[in-house]
Amino acid sequence: MKQLISDIEIIPHNVHTNDSVDKHVLSKNTYTGKSRKLFIETYGCQMNFSDTEIVTSIMREQGFDTTDNPDAADVIFLNTCSIRENAELKVRNKLQYFNALKNKKPSLLIGVLGCMAERLKAKLLEEEKTVDLVVGPDAYRDLPNLLAEADEGHKSVNVFLSREETYADINPVRLTGDGVSAFISIMRGCDNMCSFCVVPFTRGRERSRDMYSILTEAKHLFENGYREVTLLGQNVDSYKWATPEGNTIKFATLLEEVARIHPDLRVRFTTSHPKDMTDDVLHVMAKYENICKYIHLPAQSGSNSVLERMNRSYTREWYLQRIHAIRDIVGQDCGISTDLIAGFCNETESEHQDTISLMNEVKYHFAYMFEYSERPNTPAAKKLHDNVPPEVKNKRLKEIISLQNQHSLQINKKEIGKIHKVLIDGYSKKSSEQMRGRTSQNTTVVFPKGNYQKGQYVFVKIHDCTQGTLFGTVV
Ligand code: SAH
Ligand code: SF4
Ligand code: F3S
Repeated sequence: MKQLISDIEIIPHNVHTNDSVDKHVLSKNTYTGKSRKLFIETYGCQMNFSDTEIVTSIMREQGFDTTDNPDAADVIFLNTCSIRENAELKVRNKLQYFNALKNKKPSLLIGVLGCMAERLKAKLLEEEKTVDLVVGPDAYRDLPNLLAEADEGHKSVNVFLSREETYADINPVRLTGDGVSAFISIMRGCDNMCSFCVVPFTRGRERSRDMYSILTEAKHLFENGYREVTLLGQNVDSYKWATPEGNTIKFATLLEEVARIHPDLRVRFTTSHPKDMTDDVLHVMAKYENICKYIHLPAQSGSNSVLERMNRSYTREWYLQRIHAIRDIVGQDCGISTDLIAGFCNETESEHQDTISLMNEVKYHFAYMFEYSERPNTPAAKKLHDNVPPEVKNKRLKEIISLQNQHSLQINKKEIGKIHKVLIDGYSKKSSEQMRGRTSQNTTVVFPKGNYQKGQYVFVKIHDCTQGTLFGTVV
């Protein structure tokens, strides 16, 4: 996933800010001109997109404007992802391209931010001569200093991982959005050690953000016309924050508080971890109409022996029991999606078939499906062998994808004739005569535009579908 950030949709800086921190940033401000331009490109997960909004906010305070044209930029940032080898290769290719720009404009500064910066640290400066700054995900407040150093011709690196940083007081600049739907980071880092995963190394220890700063941000988004917020964390079910009075707030409470902001504010969250997803969260989902009936519950594999090698801390039986709890408490129609990895270390054909049978048993609305990609220094890279041949990984992935496509189509077909409440988020990609929105279950719905506006709720009767989209008319 890659997205260009352009200078559209900017909400005023009216979300609560902490003065001391603003001063910290401003006192280090070495720039006077308002005209320096930042081009920032984001790779990876929603957390990274959310971080880009924080980085943009910090850079705005430094007098930078954003541009969607790299040729016009004085500073280029790539906010990077390390989750699979391919994600890093894309960044390497892009750096080559920016190298050419720098040859034309030697004053251009290039910064690598995010997970790849954290994984490779100063080594990245040796490997990629064009790069001037290397900045890890917990070091964005230091950007003004790092830029000042880079301006003086020194390469600068800050990859310090914090146990506290949540950027709670920074008001993200909403750049890419549709003005309807926004992400709110509620926690950072990850304390799980899934053996295949680089995230604990690139994002550091898990920490939860002040609940009140989350609620303030959500309220201001609603007041500025937003109608949907997605609460983000690598493992939202382990959200845990102590109030100044010493009470512990868990995810179910946070979710309920966000839902109570306004019945017209839809609330989503991601990602849930099967080992931690509790019934109290499901009961809160059932209680509030505006909490979307959709859960992303990554299974990774349907085989107990593979789950054990992955160190996922649950079994297939536990996972299925969680699926039943979702359907019993939230409802049979709750949208459920997953992540699946094909060809993990030592995966046999029969273990792969366990994943296929899990898919048949659950019938997911949607899935993100990947071939295993070994990441250096992860527990799997150290202790296991990446020994499933590429062609076998690929064959298994194709089998998984084709089964998922069938399931998505079957599930969508069942919606024909039903009426769904849809939040409109813009025009259909294919036609400006059609508008597009999503159901509570997160399925895209396309319908004739009429006089409807984005940000509005409409009831749509479904009359047709593909595996990815429902088609209907407003009733
Ligand atoms: N915190 C989330 C997921 C974060 S990464 C969770 O625990 O579910 C998103 C997805 O990328 C993972 O769910 C996994 O399916 C996939 N992934 C992570 N590391 C991978 C690797 N080394 N190779 C292939 N896929 C990987
Ligand atoms: Fe990675 Fe596991 Fe943490 Fe998800 S829960 S980010 S897969 S270590
Ligand atoms: Fe990638 Fe980092 Fe997200 S590795 S998936 S950008 S947490």
